[in-house]
Amino acid sequence: MQKAKIIVANWKSAPATSAEAQAILNATDEYLGGLAERAKFSLVFCPPFIFLEDVAKILRLSHLEHQAELGAQDIALEDSPAQTGEITGPMLAKLGVRYVIVGHSERRWGLGESDKIVNGKLRLALRHELVPIVCIGERDRGIAWEDEIADQVRATFDGLSEGEISRCIIAYEPVWAISTNNGAQPDTPENALESIKLIREVLGADAARFLYGGSVTELNAAGFLAVSELDGVIVGGASVRKEEFLKILADASHIAQ
Ligand code: PGA
Repeated sequence: MQKAKIIVANWKSAPATSAEAQAILNATDEYLGGLAERAKFSLVFCPPFIFLEDVAKILRLSHLEHQAELGAQDIALEDSPAQTGEITGPMLAKLGVRYVIVGHSERRWGLGESDKIVNGKLRLALRHELVPIVCIGERDRGIAWEDEIADQVRATFDGLSEGEISRCIIAYEPVWAISTNNGAQPDTPENALESIKLIREVLGADAARFLYGGSVTELNAAGFLAVSELDGVIVGGASVRKEEFLKILADASHIAQ
């Protein structure tokens, strides 16, 4: 039997309202409540900061309680209260956040977050006992893709011990496969495995868990979830389209049986 898969829902900057956020969770709750036995996968919901508190409440009061945990999409680089616009590790911990995405390509390439900043956020997340979901991925699959991944991995995990790396979840997310980028195409499970093998080699650590992310939808999720070397998937756009998201969960339920 496969080990329980993790499905991370990275809602990014959606949905627009709390009511829509609740509708996604209610639909998920209803789906899980209707299963003959408890589904053997775990969920991590990473909503925008403004919905964290609402989502935390719903997770506590529904079938999601033992199945889903709360994640944030970012963490401030310092704990200081003097960082206008930032949300710090202590604030996240107080809200019951357990996971935090760091190094997402939309922040690296869209907002200029350097490897050094990502490394700092990763260290801070670990210090606050949060599980970092560390995004790694090349911008294109041209001849230099291996160098790009290797450099990014070395700089992102710089100075971390093997024990610290083992507490991370690494999300392999090739930038060219992220659905919001023009002409994005999902990667194949074979390619993803090749990249993950490289990441493992560069880290020299065997323990971290690996997810695939990049245009995961109800059409291809089963293929990635079936790969035993992958611990799950991180779903962006499709995680706020509730019918699609429930289909991905249905695939995960079948695979876990
Ligand atoms: P996508 O995004 O599923 O919309 O491609 C994944 C991500 O950016 O985490």
